[in-house]
Amino acid sequence: MNHQERQPIVTVTLNPALDQTVHVSQFQTGQVNRVFDQRVDPGGKGINVAKVVRALGHSVCVTGFLGQDNCHGFYEYFRKQGISNHFVELSGAARVNIKIVDEPSNQVTEINFPGLTCTPPDLDKLQQVIKGLAHEGQWFVLSGSLPQGVSEDIYQQLIVLLKKQGAKVFLDSSGAALREGIKAIPHAMKPNLDELSQLVGRPLEQETEIRAAVEELLASGIQQVIVSLGARGAIVAQNQEFFIARPPAVVAKSTVGAGDAMVAGFVAGQTERFSLKDCIRLGTAAATASVIQPGTQAGSLQQVAEILPMVQINPW
Ligand SMILES: Nc1ncnc2c1ncn2[C@@H]1O[C@H](COP(=O)(O)OP(=O)(O)OP(=O)(O)O)[C@@H](O)[C@H]1O
Ligand SMILES: [Mg+2]
Repeated sequence: MNHQERQPIVTVTLNPALDQTVHVSQFQTGQVNRVFDQRVDPGGKGINVAKVVRALGHSVCVTGFLGQDNCHGFYEYFRKQGISNHFVELSGAARVNIKIVDEPSNQVTEINFPGLTCTPPDLDKLQQVIKGLAHEGQWFVLSGSLPQGVSEDIYQQLIVLLKKQGAKVFLDSSGAALREGIKAIPHAMKPNLDELSQLVGRPLEQETEIRAAVEELLASGIQQVIVSLGARGAIVAQNQEFFIARPPAVVAKSTVGAGDAMVAGFVAGQTERFSLKDCIRLGTAAATASVIQPGTQAGSLQQVAEILPMVQINPW
């Protein structure tokens, strides 16, 4: 199937953010600090996943909530990247996260604004949009934190809706949103070790402890479970198959969004009907390509292709 015929992957971001990174020399509180370099990146986990899906050459739709006061920067970015925009606009502004990078110390001071507040009619609107986008066999990625005014079981509600439409859901969240979300049995999920440990309510130090936690999730009906382990790689499980994927050693510039890149690569592989091994290989290569970029930028398709054969996959 070529890229035109394939259904787009849809990512849902309920709580997007504009990440504004400013560089100052010898940052001081209570003083005037002059900015000598800055960049603004649209962010939020689902949007980060979409960036990488697009960089891998797939079509992608984005939806969720944006605020009328600062949505235009996002729209301009989506237009330039060829990302199809289906966001629901609310009054107010999406979160702005200011990161002040002090040079030469490289210390980062963060200032995070509150985000949007949703009302029940906003949620109804989003559910209609999502229903309109969903088709049999299509992949949806639900990821990230929740805005104010949204109940903790929102992912559960969306998964129920999407499964009725025959769509497949990849859930990547944390805390209560993840705990409630998995009750609707998504097709796939990718906690990191902390998120998994919090979910099962016990420390996961030994391999046998991680394995037992993964088996519990599989037994609940979730078909594919990935546990990401930062620089150590990721475990992937489906039925009786368990693999560990180890990335090549790289000099990391920014690990923020590495997990999102892994989700993007894995789901892109699924839409190509790759084997489980090849999906985690693509996910790991996309994650590695992302950690060697500054911020949450995606690696290029060429970088991903170069890294692919360097990913080691072994039974686990
Ligand atoms: N320092 C690193 N060096 C090489 N690869 C890395 C590094 N950190 C992360 N990765 C790759 O990215 C994958 C996902 O990383 P991680 O486990 O940190 O996800 P995460 O905690 O969900 O991240 P986030 O939610 O911030 O995107 C890892 O499995 C690995 O392949
Ligand atoms: Mg993550």
